[in-house]
Amino acid sequence: MSPIRSYIPGFRKNFISFATAALLFYIAGSASSAAEPQSGSIPEIHRIADIFQPLSRPAELLLEPTHLVLLICLGIFLVVIAVLVYVLIKFRPRGPEDHLEEPPQVYGSYNIEMAWTVIPCLIVFVLVLVSARSIVEIQDQPMPEGALKIRLIGHQWWWEIQYPDLGIITANEIHVPVSSKDGKQRPTHIILESADVIHSFWVPQLAGKTDLVPNRVNHTWIEPFKTGVFLGNCAEYCGTQHANMLLRVIVQTPEDFQKWVENQQQLPPEPKDAIAIQGKKDFFELSCVSCHKIDATPAEGVFGPDLTKFAIRQTLGAGVAANTPENLHAWLHDPDSLKPGCYMPDMKLSPQQLDSLVAYLQTLK
Ligand code: CUA
Repeated sequence: MSPIRSYIPGFRKNFISFATAALLFYIAGSASSAAEPQSGSIPEIHRIADIFQPLSRPAELLLEPTHLVLLICLGIFLVVIAVLVYVLIKFRPRGPEDHLEEPPQVYGSYNIEMAWTVIPCLIVFVLVLVSARSIVEIQDQPMPEGALKIRLIGHQWWWEIQYPDLGIITANEIHVPVSSKDGKQRPTHIILESADVIHSFWVPQLAGKTDLVPNRVNHTWIEPFKTGVFLGNCAEYCGTQHANMLLRVIVQTPEDFQKWVENQQQLPPEPKDAIAIQGKKDFFELSCVSCHKIDATPAEGVFGPDLTKFAIRQTLGAGVAANTPENLHAWLHDPDSLKPGCYMPDMKLSPQQLDSLVAYLQTLK
């Protein structure tokens, strides 16, 4: 399926094997697989689902309860398997006569019934207390004065990202400055909202899941201690393209983050090539403008992602493909081929329109 699926390295393709490997490593008591940098054009990608390698304070706070829950579950698993194996061996058929005789029928055992009622209740009680303590600890964390604030709005199937204090609107890629464990703390406060259905914010190495619920405002925060790209995705089934509602958190040094902010606050340059100039004309003549916004132009649509700085983004279609001219061409030609069921329509563009729009969109940086 096109150059696209193969793009996101170690993400979808390796997800299941990675999750399985992580679980096996954990059960074996060894360290989970290391978050090694991946090769490719993007320097360092921290793998998804590696909750055992937290690189941010909220994720760190969850590590201990996660270990506890897994250990308790492992204990239950071992007890169940041990009882099962014992019963299978002890009561195995020993001869043909065993098949003719009905085994003794037992009704009710006060001791056993008490045991399987009380013990699970105690376990659930402990887990509830542990979870509640972690939730309160993370939710009640006071944000320092002047902490970076982000409004993250879930849409089917992409993420709108607003920096209200900086006047920036972007999509699918959150840029934040790196924090220091002992030095200057730079947490990012994330306000979570939804434009349609329930979504869930989850960047495993940075923070646990928090839902984005229509008509409700939720809060979370991240405080990454390492630069690089952190992969996340929507963790609540939200429709056809839920699996392709991918999110990137790009953690930068404060200087690089500042550069990104300054660039975002400027308008993109006017296109210079004839083909890009034609693309700009086409863009405003087609109905692109009813769904997309480009600052300081008549394009005011808010149904789709803001395109003002589209060309800077690493991916398109909420992470479904790398943001390359070929992929953009394929996306504009038939969005459904990359993201079946998405709300970006097939505009039936002519080959000339496709070329000119690709050229124009690439100037948006
Ligand atoms: Cu949004 Cu699942």
